[in-house]
Amino acid sequence: MMTHAAPLPAAADRPTGLWLAGARGSVATTTVVGLLALQRGLVEPTGCATTRPPLDDVALPAWSRIHIGGHDVVSTPLETRADALADAGVLPHGVLAAVRPSLAGIDDAIKCRPDPAPGVDVQESAVRSLAADIADFRQRRGLERVVVVNVASTEPPCAEEAWHHDAGLLTQALADPGKVALPPSSATALAAIRAGCPYVNFTPSPGIRLPVLEKLVTAAGLPYAGSDGKTGQTLLRSALGPMFAARALRVRSWSGTNLLGGGDGATLAGCGAAASKLRSKSRAVTALFGDVTAPLHIDHVPDLGDVKVAWDHVAFEGFLGARMALQLSWTGYDSALAAPLVLDLCRLVAAAHAAGLAGPLTALGCFFKDPVGSNVHGFADQWRALTDWAATLPRAGRSR
Ligand SMILES: NC(=O)c1ccc[n+]([C@@H]2O[C@H](COP(=O)([O-])OP(=O)(O)OC[C@H]3O[C@@H](n4cnc5c(N)ncnc54)[C@H](O)[C@@H]3O)[C@@H](O)[C@H]2O)c1
Repeated sequence: MMTHAAPLPAAADRPTGLWLAGARGSVATTTVVGLLALQRGLVEPTGCATTRPPLDDVALPAWSRIHIGGHDVVSTPLETRADALADAGVLPHGVLAAVRPSLAGIDDAIKCRPDPAPGVDVQESAVRSLAADIADFRQRRGLERVVVVNVASTEPPCAEEAWHHDAGLLTQALADPGKVALPPSSATALAAIRAGCPYVNFTPSPGIRLPVLEKLVTAAGLPYAGSDGKTGQTLLRSALGPMFAARALRVRSWSGTNLLGGGDGATLAGCGAAASKLRSKSRAVTALFGDVTAPLHIDHVPDLGDVKVAWDHVAFEGFLGARMALQLSWTGYDSALAAPLVLDLCRLVAAAHAAGLAGPLTALGCFFKDPVGSNVHGFADQWRALTDWAATLPRAGRSR
């Protein structure tokens, strides 16, 4: 349950940091270039729901108030990543040319940090260094708050329940990782908590969703949101699924296939990581229709570059048992779908933090495939929950 901590004195539109874990990946680079373009008024905020009624009335940090920092395990310059994304058709060349001079400044705010992998005996020092990096970024830039968003490569699932609500286990893990160790995304989440930052998990990796960390973050009076951005096939499923249910049409099976190029596709082709993604992608159909046949596949097709293709085949039954089917295909640029959500989440989570909210932000479920603290998956219901919640936040007119 979301709880109210003591209200923070600052208004939501003060200078805000967006700390990206995986800051040199496709989603992060698209977010950086997109934010720079928005700050210069070069593009419309297409895909950013916070710029449209009724969310545009909420006191949220303006684009000009958002500062980006982050960390990654590689040091590839943002410019190199952005050039590749422009060649792939994700970023317009003209927009990239206009913001190119600013990329080096953001490179300077991105730390190269080794992967705090399980089994390595430096997890405690890795967490401490990362927390110090985030706190230093906040202090140097004079930021009111920093929202940490995980957009790093997907990790394999871990046995979350093994991580009890016992802080002693965490201390033991950090001190003696030979026995038990945090997944890298959870080490990042712990660093965010120690730095006093709200946290968003845009990936299906474990992140903050270990019982011991969920307890810590709530006790620290910090809000968090996740998991796994809902940008394509699952978005479509969560909008269409409730239609079948409302019309009393019986869904017999819902089958899906995904073809992915890009870095995410390559990661998901590796052993283990696909299991995390398939698990979060399956949540919506299971929640909406129970135990229907719902096979789901992800294939890596490097030739597609940053394009993703999703096919859905929905077999359903109508009046008098008539058998029918709906077939859909969705083609999109993964990172172009994700980046506006990352920006929206940064603004909304900053507003939640400014309002003194702590614990899971269940009202942000429409942004995620596996919404934390909620089993509501129908998009219209999730959208209503978001706008109802947003109506409780301070209005822009009042706080500016
Ligand atoms: N539409 C979308 O693009 C979408 C939707 C939902 C979720 N996601 C998730 O977002 C994440 C990023 O996707 P992407 O396409 O940018 O992938 P990508 O492979 O292009 O980028 C991932 C980045 O994370 C870095 N990284 C790996 N391990 C790290 C660690 N321990 N700490 C910090 N950085 C680390 C990599 O070096 C890389 O730069 C993936 O987990 C993906 O599943 C993407």
